[in-house]
Amino acid sequence: MSALSIYKDYSLLGHNTFGMDVMADYFVEYNSIEDLESVRQMRLEGALPDKYLFVGEGSNLLFTQDFRGVVLHSAIKTFEVLSEDNFSVRVRVGSGWNWDSFVSECVDRGWWGLENLSYIPGQVGSCAVQNIGAYGVEAKDLIELVEVFDFEQGIYLQLSKDECKYGYRDSIFKSEAFRKYAVTAVVFALRKLPSPNFSYKQLAEAFQGETDPKLSRIRDAVINIRKGKLPEPSEIGSAGSFFKNPVVPIGKFEELQKKYPSIPYYRVEGNGSCMKLSAGWLIEQCGWKGRSVGRAGVYHKQALVIVNLGGAIPSEVLSLVEKVISSVVDKFGIELSPEVIIL
Ligand code: EPU
Repeated sequence: MSALSIYKDYSLLGHNTFGMDVMADYFVEYNSIEDLESVRQMRLEGALPDKYLFVGEGSNLLFTQDFRGVVLHSAIKTFEVLSEDNFSVRVRVGSGWNWDSFVSECVDRGWWGLENLSYIPGQVGSCAVQNIGAYGVEAKDLIELVEVFDFEQGIYLQLSKDECKYGYRDSIFKSEAFRKYAVTAVVFALRKLPSPNFSYKQLAEAFQGETDPKLSRIRDAVINIRKGKLPEPSEIGSAGSFFKNPVVPIGKFEELQKKYPSIPYYRVEGNGSCMKLSAGWLIEQCGWKGRSVGRAGVYHKQALVIVNLGGAIPSEVLSLVEKVISSVVDKFGIELSPEVIIL
């Protein structure tokens, strides 16, 4: 009995956190590699359209039009401890797990590593595509390998972390040539001994003076910080940070710092000739925080987030995005690039 679900002329409203009311010609939910192979065969036989797209919970996508093809969604919910000792554990988890449910499960079991990534919307599979990050931790720090199904060739592959070519909110899976890979599972290497990462100022402040903070309290603190700054996906449509924080040459940074001494900046891992700036700060300085174009707005608590104020249509979001980009170019000479995938 196959658990494959195939829907025709399907509304994607419930499958993108931005809340864009667009349609897909087909929507397919798969539970296994065998399901994916069946869908691949159907496509080869012409029973499904040629064009396809793998989506998680649609928390990093902006649909600007109907999708004329098949949208594929993972419902693979396996969970397997591959090995463990007193210090570490290797866990293999299906790509269809909700990300935060997985983080919560790890925290409940006393496994350290993912707690700073609590409450990020999305699925386990998308975390490996997007290299999600927050509060000094990135998914790649804990990922050991990623299992994928090549939807063109019909083969199953395991990619090591190095082969995934992780960068800031980036991996090979985001490049056009590798969008044919459906992530089916991810192997994480986690720790059993306490190893808090308090490199983010607000988190360090919350635990100042504590020598042995409990893992579950760190998760709670992270959730509180997020709730204070970022919109609740169930209440306000958004795709989290809309832009990447820009990385600029050191000379450009020094020039800006002279003019704006309070400009926030971050060193770039392994690259002393560049500096990462805060897109939210740049946008706020241009006066955009809390402003809107039609029903699309710049979130009033965090200018890096574009929100759907209710019933926004794609053209309103795009028009706001263009205006924000050009303001930042005019004021700072920096071109922001979207973190969100625009389709
Ligand atoms: N800032 C402003 N105004 C704003 C927003 C930010 O002045 O409207 C300043 C803050 O005061 C701070 C700096 O910019 O000095 C950085 O702000 P914040 O700590 O809120 O983080 P961010 O750089 O805006 C990034 C990630 C977030 C992640 C946080 C915390 C990106 C694109 N975004 O945001 O990730 O949660 O750091 O680590 O890297 C996401 O990717 O969707 C996301 C939410």
